[in-house]
Amino acid sequence: MCSTPIDDSECLTKWLRGLGNLGIFWAKKIRGIEVITQNPLTLLIEWQHSKRSKSAFLSLCHRISRICLDSLRGLVGDKDTDLFIITLSELIQDLYDRWSKIFIYDVDGPFLVPNRGVSVEIYTPEHVSDHIASTIETVQRSSWGFYKPPPKGDYVLVAKISGDKPIGSAYYNPISSNIDYGIHVSKPYWKRRIGTRLLVETTRLAMSLGHRWISVVRVMRGIKPTLSDRRAIAFYRANNPKQELNVYRLAIR
Ligand SMILES: CC(C)(COP(=O)(O)OP(=O)(O)OC[C@H]1O[C@@H](n2cnc3c(N)ncnc32)[C@H](O)[C@@H]1OP(=O)(O)O)[C@@H](O)C(=O)NCCC(=O)NCCS
Repeated sequence: MCSTPIDDSECLTKWLRGLGNLGIFWAKKIRGIEVITQNPLTLLIEWQHSKRSKSAFLSLCHRISRICLDSLRGLVGDKDTDLFIITLSELIQDLYDRWSKIFIYDVDGPFLVPNRGVSVEIYTPEHVSDHIASTIETVQRSSWGFYKPPPKGDYVLVAKISGDKPIGSAYYNPISSNIDYGIHVSKPYWKRRIGTRLLVETTRLAMSLGHRWISVVRVMRGIKPTLSDRRAIAFYRANNPKQELNVYRLAIR
């Protein structure tokens, strides 16, 4: 059993396939995946659909080293192949053109003390109705300004305060054990540990489904973190992740 999604090629492959619904620069629906080298662990991924590239090499380099970068650059096939690196280190800015963070938590924490004054409802994938989706839409429009509907197969968590008012949401993918599109709290309710409560409830759900860890991904809007990226990162860091990883797309075009 995997203790993190990056334990070995099997854990990483399974997790990447499960993340396909995200449709972000490094996690899209996968047609095929193949291990190219073991040290560093490098995968060749073929996407089902992608406007930009047909495929990508993805290397896991715990710490950035010249050997790791050179072995990845040496693999460049044609101009339709992107190069991704997953690493604990932070890369200097002129080496990449996209950046994302991954936070991994143990399901039993430790987390900050959550807000127990709100209720959290959990909807199984088959009970996610249009009504619930419109509830979440209201929350997301007042958390980050736009709306991502729940991917098919995800659990949905909704935080409510008295009067049944929805003020927070999270989607949990039981295959990847990922919180798809992250935690959301309506702006007027920020900084009351409601986000922490949703994180804690999502990890309890993951535990009840037999998972030992949970992941969450933040895609940076640009090369440098914006104010909203920094806020999200501060929140995820404050809740004691077991690992904080970076995913970079190397600037090769
Ligand atoms: C990120 C977000 C979910 C945090 O929710 P929240 O309920 O305000 O967070 P909490 O109150 O549980 O915060 C827990 C800790 O995170 C840190 N934190 C939270 N918001 C922070 C901020 N704006 N600046 C710095 N640190 C922050 C603090 O350390 C805080 O601990 P404290 O209570 O001792 O100060 C919320 O700001 C949000 O919805 N943002 C917009 C949507 C978004 O970007 N979500 C992430 C998608 S990947």
